[in-house]
Amino acid sequence: MFEHIEAAPADPILGLGEAFKAETRQNKINLGIGVYKNNQGDTPIMRAVKEAERRLFELETTKNYLAIDGVAEFNARTKELLFGADSDILKQERAKTVQSLGGTGALRIAAEFIKRQTNAKNVWISNPTWPNHNAIFKAVGINIREYRYYDAENKRLDWEHLLEDLSLAEQGDVVLLHGCCHNPTGIDPTPEQWQILAKMSAEKGWLPLFDFAYQGFANGLDEDAIGLRTFAANHKELLVSSSYSKNFGLYNERVGAFTLVAGTADIANKALTQVKSIVRTLYSNPASHGAATVALVLGDKQLKADWEQELAQMRDRIKQMRHRFVELLKEYGAQQDFNFIIEQNGMFSFSGLTPEQVDSLKDEFAIYAVRSGRINVAGITEDNIRYLCESIVKVL
Ligand code: LMR
Repeated sequence: MFEHIEAAPADPILGLGEAFKAETRQNKINLGIGVYKNNQGDTPIMRAVKEAERRLFELETTKNYLAIDGVAEFNARTKELLFGADSDILKQERAKTVQSLGGTGALRIAAEFIKRQTNAKNVWISNPTWPNHNAIFKAVGINIREYRYYDAENKRLDWEHLLEDLSLAEQGDVVLLHGCCHNPTGIDPTPEQWQILAKMSAEKGWLPLFDFAYQGFANGLDEDAIGLRTFAANHKELLVSSSYSKNFGLYNERVGAFTLVAGTADIANKALTQVKSIVRTLYSNPASHGAATVALVLGDKQLKADWEQELAQMRDRIKQMRHRFVELLKEYGAQQDFNFIIEQNGMFSFSGLTPEQVDSLKDEFAIYAVRSGRINVAGITEDNIRYLCESIVKVL
């Protein structure tokens, strides 16, 4: 029965991790998967997380099932983080959140919800985007349309083409937007551009879906929510997939959230029942540990302050590395102007390297990056940056 099955291609991002593990060269560098690393090249457990886990160990009294929508306190704190604690949406109880298995799980819930409960004909996805976006919507059977996002020549947002393509999105279509730190380009709309998009979306009657996986990695927790909050102020309805993998470093605990905003609390409550029936058929109910940890940190003034401080340090380290990277590329003789890397947000930089150049980096120098030319700046350290820049210049 299984003889006809063909091997699936390796995942363009997670597949790299497997190849990197098997790499035996000592000087290997992993700039593939979007995971934060400190200057020693480690992905540490954040201080506030460690402390919350210690407290949880004492506080936990049962391993009974969670509710379908997960840890209630976690869901409440998530909404505050997304929209701001004093947002009207929260006061009006128009937002409903369910805990999910990471940001990917939240996206899958979103896709199932769109397919089953809306009339959306298309989901509009930026080109380029995180490859799993296309895979998730394809898996659910929703038609995918692309909007241009990146101007490769000028290394900036392709604003004119983005508007041109999105002007074709029809009423009821879903438009997928990256809340901040666009993956893979690191280029986000300006506050003015968010305003224009939100207005266009409200006028046209799109259903916005925000993928918000990197809150806190561009400029700050509130600053990074500007796009989402601009849309929220203009729309009765929207969807959000958010993640705590990156900003809490809880990658392997799989902690994310799916949030829907409806026109009234009643409608939101009804829609929530449908979201819960989706979750019930996918995985019944989520795991507790990661979400309970996040809820504890966000609900404790001191732990929250400590978390924010450490997150700011992570953000600053990435920014420093961007500057150093550009400086050293120049020092090693790169002819191109790489200053655009300084302007990009979050972990990723769309370096402009071609797939062939990325292959050479791997084959000749044991440096792993995504073939699209995306590099994870958080994987650069003081120890590997010189070798990295020297190798890139050779490949160029
Ligand atoms: C990435 O883009 O590297 C991360 O979001 C990890 C993943 O799941 O692909």
